[in-house]
Amino acid sequence: FAARQVTRSVFGAASRRAFSATAFNASKVVVLGSAGGIGQPLSLLLKLNPRVSELALYDIVLGPGVAADISHINTKSNVKGYTPDPAGIKECLTGADIVLIPAGVPRKPGMTRDDLFNTNASIVRELAKSCADHCPDANILVISNPVNSTVPITAEVFKSKGVYNPKKLFGVTTLDVVRASRFISQVKGTDPANENITVIGGHSGATIVPLLSQSGHSLEGKERDDYIHRVQFGGDEVVAAKDGKGSATLSMAMAGARFAESLLKAAQGQKNVVEPTFVDSPLYKDQGVTYFASNVTLGPNGVEEIHPVGKISEFEQGLLDKCLVDLKGNIEKGEKWAQENP
Ligand code: NAD
Ligand code: LMR
Repeated sequence: FAARQVTRSVFGAASRRAFSATAFNASKVVVLGSAGGIGQPLSLLLKLNPRVSELALYDIVLGPGVAADISHINTKSNVKGYTPDPAGIKECLTGADIVLIPAGVPRKPGMTRDDLFNTNASIVRELAKSCADHCPDANILVISNPVNSTVPITAEVFKSKGVYNPKKLFGVTTLDVVRASRFISQVKGTDPANENITVIGGHSGATIVPLLSQSGHSLEGKERDDYIHRVQFGGDEVVAAKDGKGSATLSMAMAGARFAESLLKAAQGQKNVVEPTFVDSPLYKDQGVTYFASNVTLGPNGVEEIHPVGKISEFEQGLLDKCLVDLKGNIEKGEKWAQENP
C-alpha cells in the first residue's frame, strides 16, 4: 500500500529547530475481534510498534474498552475503539492500510479447525464485506480458523464486489513458522532467534509442511517424525493444555504482530522482506490448489513475489502430496460455501 509520508518533528519545540522535517510513515492498522484472546495482546503489541500511527479496534463486545485501556500507553499512535454499528465499522475501516481479522470462535479439545467452519465462515464473510465496502485497498490478514477456508471465503466476497486484489489477501501462517523455529531449537539446542524454518502448505494438521531440509538441519527416524508431528499439531498442544478455555492466543498475537510488522517494513521501503504466508498462488494451481503458503517477498503493494517451494527431500515431497489433497478440499469448501451463501 502507499504508506502516507507525513513530515513531523518527533521532538519538542526546543529541539524542533535542530531536527525539523523528521519523517515517519502514517499507517492505519485495524483489528477486527480486538477484545478476544488474540485480539487484546495483538492490539497491545501493535500499540508498541512505532510504525503504526493509528490503531482502530473493533469487536462486538468491549472494543472501546480495550481501546481506552491501550490508548494510555505512551507511544505516539492514536487508538480508537468501535462497536458494531454501521457508522462505527465504516469509520473504523476507512483509510486502513492493514486489517487483521482474529474474530471468531476458537477450538475446544477434540475439535479440528474445520469444525469451526460453520460458525466462523459467516463471521469472516460479514467482516470481509465491510472491508470490501470501506477499505478495498487494504492488506487483509486473516487469522480466524479454518484459515485454509476463511481466506478463500474472503476472496469470494471481494470478487463478488469487484474489488479482489490477490496481492493484498493473506492467511496468517506465521505461528507455524514461529513454532517450527522454536521446536527445532529445542531439539538441537540452538538459539531459536537464529532459526527460520520455512513452512509451506496451509494451516491445519497435514497441510502444515515444515521444510527442515532447507534449514541446514537434519533429523531422522522417530526424532524427525516427532518434530514434524509437533509442528503440524502444535495448536492441539495448546488447545489440550487450555482444557476447553481456548487455543493459542499469546503466541498467535506475537506471530500476527510479526507479520503486520513485516508488511509495514515492506510498505515503508525496506527491501527483501520475506515471510511464508497463505496467498492466492500459482504454484499448484495446475493441481486445483488455488491458495498455498510459501515464502513471499512483501512490497509496498502487498505480495511482490511468490517463491517456488525449491528443492525438498523425498520425505518432504510425501508430506506435500498429502498436504495438497487436504488443502484442495478445504479451499473448495470455502469457495463453494461463499458462492452459495453470499
Ligand atoms: P476469542 O473467542 O478469545 O476471541 C474472538 C473475538 O472475536 C471475541 O472478542 C469476539 O467477541 C470477537 N467476535 C466474534 N464475532 C465477531 C464479529 N462478527 N465481529 C467482530 N468481532 C467478533 O478467540 P481467539 O482465541 O482470539 O481466536 C480467534 C480465532 O483465531 C479463532 O478462530 C482461532 O481458531 C483463530 N486462531 C488462528 C491462529 C492462526 O495461526 N491463524 C492461531 C490461533 C487462533
Ligand atoms: C493454532 O495453530 O494454534 C491455531 O490455529 C489455533 C488452533 O485451533 O489450534
